[in-house]
Amino acid sequence: DALLSEIKGLKATSSNEAEELRIKYLSKKGMISSLFDEFKTVPPTEKKAVGQALNQLKNEAQQIIQQLKEQHEQSDTSHGKTDLTRPGASFPLGGRHPLSVVKNQIVDIFARLGFTVAEGPEIEDDWHVFSALNFPPEHPARDMQDTFFIHKDPDILLRTHTSSVQVRVMEKEQPPIRAIFPGRVFRNEAISARAHCIFHQVEGLYIEENVSFADLRQTLLYFAKEMFGKETQIRLRPSYFPFTEPSAEMDISCTLCGGEGCTMCKYTGWVEILGCGMVDPNVLESCNIDSKKYTGFAFGMGIERITVLKYQIKDIRLFFENDIRFLEQFKSAL
Ligand code: PHE
Repeated sequence: DALLSEIKGLKATSSNEAEELRIKYLSKKGMISSLFDEFKTVPPTEKKAVGQALNQLKNEAQQIIQQLKEQHEQSDTSHGKTDLTRPGASFPLGGRHPLSVVKNQIVDIFARLGFTVAEGPEIEDDWHVFSALNFPPEHPARDMQDTFFIHKDPDILLRTHTSSVQVRVMEKEQPPIRAIFPGRVFRNEAISARAHCIFHQVEGLYIEENVSFADLRQTLLYFAKEMFGKETQIRLRPSYFPFTEPSAEMDISCTLCGGEGCTMCKYTGWVEILGCGMVDPNVLESCNIDSKKYTGFAFGMGIERITVLKYQIKDIRLFFENDIRFLEQFKSAL
């Protein structure tokens, strides 16, 4: 009993001291072990009671000394005895936004074909967005429904497509012109999983003597294969844009389902990715380019759409929410 209360009163100022106590009381040659040795000499009638008391003493001693140790192990590290060989905490590195990643990929692919990059203003006038591009005065795209006008002035607006930049480039330069125009565009549309009032486009333009529809097709086939994989096929469907004639919409074979059909291609095996066509001679003339001498092609695609297809993203609103958990998934896709 005296030994028990002695142990209960034990104190230690460090974990080393606690270890010394463990050796003193609990090791093979410690005080409690020697009591167990004496146990042999206890008369048989008292063996049961003494045995129980001994075991209790040993258990209590173990518990108390263990507690003393743990107490000090914690405070030892908080007093500067930190493990200096541990690797340092890594500091967070940023990553590119998925739309920038894909825009850079598009720019790189067309750079290999000799296309340079040009940019223009987001706040535009009617001429560069509509009139020079052969939009008739009553064309529905000019409607208040689609276009954001600034201060109700019908001449100043947020561009609805990057085709405005092709006008600016043609006004400044004579052919040969071979450039792409990435940028942000604006349309007065309800925001949903598939549409947004702000999105991004890349427009392309090539003007030279004897540029043909075959050149357009081959350029876009090269792009599709570089972007979505060598197996990718393209399909051109007749369409209409005021600034191109003939016009087409381009589909790519659905690379996600291998042609079998999936939710991306709505079970058809094809997904639309861009609009294109031969530049209408009226557009060339509006920009002071001789439409008898030169021909050209143009195309335009939505960067969100390409990104959604490439990375299987279900909701385009994710691009604008800047939730770090979404953005971090693209860190390796530089
Ligand atoms: N400007 C068109 C659009 O926004 C795309 C396009 C560009 C179509 C160039 C043909 C040629 O939908």
